[in-house]
Amino acid sequence: MDIATKSPDAGQSPSPTPFLTDVETLRSRARQHIEEGAVTAGYELDAREVCKVLNDALATEIVCVLRYRRHYFMAQGIAAESVKAEFLAHANEEQEHADEIAGRIVQLGGEPDFNPAGLVSRSHSEYIEGESLRDMIREDLVAERVAIDSYREIIGWIGDRDSTTRKMLEGILAVEEEHADDMASLLQGVREPS
Ligand SMILES: [Fe+2]
Ligand SMILES: [Fe+2]
Repeated sequence: MDIATKSPDAGQSPSPTPFLTDVETLRSRARQHIEEGAVTAGYELDAREVCKVLNDALATEIVCVLRYRRHYFMAQGIAAESVKAEFLAHANEEQEHADEIAGRIVQLGGEPDFNPAGLVSRSHSEYIEGESLRDMIREDLVAERVAIDSYREIIGWIGDRDSTTRKMLEGILAVEEEHADDMASLLQGVREPS
């Protein structure tokens, strides 16, 4: 029997299916609470809770944008040119992450929090300016490692209950891992100032 195309017969209760909802129920559920947009009755998480977690991730990304941009403008010295380019590229990618996360928060019926007040306390990673080029790279590496662990934890918490948010975060996590790898390589090539 093809369970995917089965619908209830008139006067008969639908026979139980292992994992698929019959088409009538799907259609009538979709008409309820349509103001909730992408958040349907089948959404397995508390969308408000997901938005709160995503807003913390948004704050983390914004802090990373600001820190990398500060480092881009402040990097000086013989070794700085290639490092500056890396700082700028990372700043721009962190901005893309922030935009992706903000967009998903709106899809889930929430509001992205761009309020500068409390930004640093909402963020997982810190805003540390660093004195030398080496300090800057080290602080960026630490921040990336914080972001990696927090994204990994959020992805584990979401599990299979919201595959769209999970996939978005998995994509971001992969980039944070590249960022950490870039910073670790740069750190090897930049000496402590004498
Ligand atoms: Fe990021
Ligand atoms: Fe990053």
